[in-house]
Amino acid sequence: MTETSDKTTHFGFTNVPEHEKAGKVQGVFTSVASKYDVMNDAMSMGIHRIWKDAMMDWLAPRPGQRLLDVAGGTGDISFRFLERAGEGHSTVLDLTESMLVEGRKRAEAAAMSESLDWVVGDAMALPFADNTFDVYTISFGIRNVTRPQEALNEAYRVLKPGGRLMVLEFSQIPNDMMQKAYDLYSFNVIPRMGQAIAGDRDSYQYLVESIRKFPDQETFLSMVRTAGFENAKYRNLTMGIACLHSGWKI
Ligand SMILES: C[S@@+](CC[C@H](N)C(=O)[O-])C[C@H]1O[C@@H](n2cnc3c(N)ncnc32)[C@H](O)[C@@H]1O
Repeated sequence: MTETSDKTTHFGFTNVPEHEKAGKVQGVFTSVASKYDVMNDAMSMGIHRIWKDAMMDWLAPRPGQRLLDVAGGTGDISFRFLERAGEGHSTVLDLTESMLVEGRKRAEAAAMSESLDWVVGDAMALPFADNTFDVYTISFGIRNVTRPQEALNEAYRVLKPGGRLMVLEFSQIPNDMMQKAYDLYSFNVIPRMGQAIAGDRDSYQYLVESIRKFPDQETFLSMVRTAGFENAKYRNLTMGIACLHSGWKI
């Protein structure tokens, strides 16, 4: 007999049993996969590219490094990492197969398939041995994970000693006026754009709600430290709309 916990968690602004969240998240990303890259550019007016480049600037990839790009989706972070490193390898892991399918198409078009592996899996239970990777990234992924602390613990486990964690995620704007303006945009415009471009309003409603449920910069920093990471720091991007957290496994 399978035991299921009666604990609940948030799925956007709705409360759901914990064991149902991953399936719902998978539903969202299966639905948007083929339009995901186009929607990212439209919703953020291209700014997500600047944030991802800022992630690479801080990460400073080096030749020969082995990256694990969790919740890697269509591969934006892995492609950037490999281009900056010159040579290296990336394993893209994601819960949603359709997102990886889109990523694989991009890798083939860019003749980068040999440097990439695509793995379906859950950030909370990584199918890799301890001390395997030089770098672990998760970009706009961890807020969708049912228990983010477990994902951070897993990141620590699979990194080699000396390995680096880098998280890119939406965060909280430490200015009420700016936060209100941003909320007006995200709650009114993004779901409508989702309907117009991807034919899916509900998935984009979930995405904006999930941003508001994610912990603020300091709370997330303490979670990174709890997982065991040292020299943990963060940098706000665009006034805190997004944020980078970095930590080292010493
Ligand atoms: C917003 S997309 C981010 C994709 C890519 N990293 C980027 O920055 O463009 C979020 C991704 O997280 C994946 N995801 C959500 N929960 C996950 C989990 N528990 N484990 C692995 N991937 C997960 C989704 O399937 C989706 O592809």
